Amino acid sequence: MITPTRFLAVVGCALTLLLASCATSPSGDGSALTRTTAAPSGPDAATPSRPASPGTSATPSPTGRAAPSVDCRKVKCVALTFDDGPGPLTGGLLDTLVRERVPAAFFLVGRMLRQHPEVARRIASTPGMTIANHTLSHPMLTRIGAAEARREIVGNTALITKVTGVRPRYLRPPYGLHNAAVDAVARSQGQAVVLWSAGALDWQYDKPGRIVEVTLPQIAPGAIVLAHDIHPWTVKAVPTLVAKLRAKGYTLVGLDDILGPTKAGRTYVRGRH
Ligand code: NI
Repeated sequence: MITPTRFLAVVGCALTLLLASCATSPSGDGSALTRTTAAPSGPDAATPSRPASPGTSATPSPTGRAAPSVDCRKVKCVALTFDDGPGPLTGGLLDTLVRERVPAAFFLVGRMLRQHPEVARRIASTPGMTIANHTLSHPMLTRIGAAEARREIVGNTALITKVTGVRPRYLRPPYGLHNAAVDAVARSQGQAVVLWSAGALDWQYDKPGRIVEVTLPQIAPGAIVLAHDIHPWTVKAVPTLVAKLRAKGYTLVGLDDILGPTKAGRTYVRGRH
């Protein structure tokens, strides 16, 4: 039987390991990093099978427990995704997600990543978290011309990979705006285009309670929730949102689990159910 003291020792040890892996070089040598770096072998390769998925392997979580395997065709799954960071609030959100054992995906913007590289590395080294591409400077990709759109996507892929050691396998075009040219670049980068089925509307509302209230009715099995880790009200809303989703019988999972195998360049709005 694990005594409270023993439990705290285990947690403390795991946190120490996390911090240690945050401090490694950008290429990273922690197992958490290498575990999530698998990339498609060619431009048209389907997203690789899922040894990289934290939810399907016996990866120890920060609390020392193995992450459960989840089949979203059998249980009601929902995935949380956070765009536009990393920012000053992302670390606090990560603390909450780890404490609540909630996987999540972070679609990083390059200009933010340059300001908060250590936060990006912490996301990358936290079991259950997925790093993804949200372009270098958050433009409307369909309005800036194909060459510039390519630079935004390819440049951020390279930046994320250099800083975190993780090559992103998902692209979310800002505002959900994409076209054939954008999809072709995503394909060339081995990235699926991942949109969302439920918007937290946290750019519109600034009260945690309102965000929960607006999000819940949009949730169905396989839902992908779009929120932003740059807003304090969003970070505050997460514990309540998670509790209410669980009370409705939902299992919170990462993108790998909810999407299953994906194809680079193809668009996904929701996950399996
Ligand atoms: Ni965005």
